[in-house]
Amino acid sequence: MKVDVLLGLQWGDEGKGKVVDVLTPQYDVISRFQGGPNAGHTLEFNNIKHVLHTIPSGIFRENKINIIGNGVVIDPIVFQKEIESLKKLGFDISQNLYISKKAHMILPTHRLLDAASEQKKGDSKIGSTLKGIGPTYKDKIGREGLRVGDILSDFETKYKTRIDNHKLLLKDFFQFDYEKILTECEVDWFRGIELLKTFKIVDTEHMINKLLQEGKTMLAEGAQGTLLDIDFGSYPFVTSSNTICAGACTGLGVAPNKIGKVLGIFKAYCTRVGMGPFPTELLDETGDALRKAGHEYGSTTGRPRRCGWLDLVALKYSVMLNGVTELIMMKADVLDQFETIKVCVGYETDGTVTEEFPFELNDSVKPVYVELPGWKTDLTKIKSQNEFPEELNNYISFIEDEMGIPVSIASVGPNREQTIFLDKE
Ligand code: GDP
Ligand code: IMO
Ligand code: MG
Repeated sequence: MKVDVLLGLQWGDEGKGKVVDVLTPQYDVISRFQGGPNAGHTLEFNNIKHVLHTIPSGIFRENKINIIGNGVVIDPIVFQKEIESLKKLGFDISQNLYISKKAHMILPTHRLLDAASEQKKGDSKIGSTLKGIGPTYKDKIGREGLRVGDILSDFETKYKTRIDNHKLLLKDFFQFDYEKILTECEVDWFRGIELLKTFKIVDTEHMINKLLQEGKTMLAEGAQGTLLDIDFGSYPFVTSSNTICAGACTGLGVAPNKIGKVLGIFKAYCTRVGMGPFPTELLDETGDALRKAGHEYGSTTGRPRRCGWLDLVALKYSVMLNGVTELIMMKADVLDQFETIKVCVGYETDGTVTEEFPFELNDSVKPVYVELPGWKTDLTKIKSQNEFPEELNNYISFIEDEMGIPVSIASVGPNREQTIFLDKE
């Protein structure tokens, strides 16, 4: 069997959690392959609204295997909180969650280093989630990281060496006052380690390949989005992992020829949290209307999300990088109120229009729009494609024609039920 991959095509928060939860019944195994608690994946069903950070979004379905792959970075403090809040909802996941020995750990000092680094950058800060993501991946690539498998032996010495280095950095380089906060965090962190030890910590790359050989079906769940990819995103305003499809290979130990369908998910408009370029951003009342209708506030940090029109130049770039085979369009209902809807089909710089995502997206890049008629219909109660207003069908067809691939799902609300599978016959 092959691994299907579902990943974000924009700047994150496309609705990955919701769709993974909806698709999970079709799969035996759900796995996360990169990112960490910078992710906030929201699921809504049976009057439950829940946000997952590190744990795969398949966890609410019975008899599924969930895997946290080697490419993920884990913060034991956040992990413990996630487990506790799942328990409160009545879900004990200790038997169906597997964690890679090779996943790197976010140390308490990584979080402090993230804060210190952002503070030092001042106005040019990334707007990180302050979860310690950048410093943890930096240590991984610098070959100084601590992995989940390390907690099984001689852990204290390894921990102390890392922490001592970080303390020097915090004190001497960043002049960051860390002592009190570190002491407090360490207590929770070590409590989290004890909890982690009670989970199944395994060589997930072997497990995954064995499961595939046995004929099990698998969905890999991306975090963040393609435009936040460390190599191809709007660098340096990106996250620190490969969010693209190739990240599923390195983040799970799956060979490229074992990748099956690539499900690319996007909002019917566009949002971004944190700093960095965003050509179609609307800093006016239309942007405010999108934020209000879409409840666009960060699932992890609560920050207001920047909002704008759908950007097909960026989307085409994402489709290319990921080899997307099917598109999933989210939050169509958020556009219900608009008389007309704009879609960016080109970037203009000094009178020249391009359809290619450029090396640098600076302020001189202006979006070229086409304007499509809105549907002015409440989509949230719709149960099948037959009920779609003509304007919505046209909006979807326009995107399909531009991208050259089909839209297979349209989402019309945050709930599991508000998901329409499109018939392509
Ligand atoms: P993720 O990080 O990609 O999983 O996305 P987030 O959970 O951060 O953000 C998506 C937000 O939109 C969440 O609050 C979802 O509950 C919500 N959502 C998902 N799909 C839809 C939809 O079709 N319509 C509306 N109105 N909200 C949606
Ligand atoms: P999900 O999985 C949206 C953004 C941050 C910041 C940049 C770097 O929920 O879609 P980091 O903490 O990773 O060093 O921050 O990336 N960012 C996200 N934006 N959704 C996410 O995850 C994000 N994870 C990181 O806002 O701009
Ligand atoms: Mg999110």
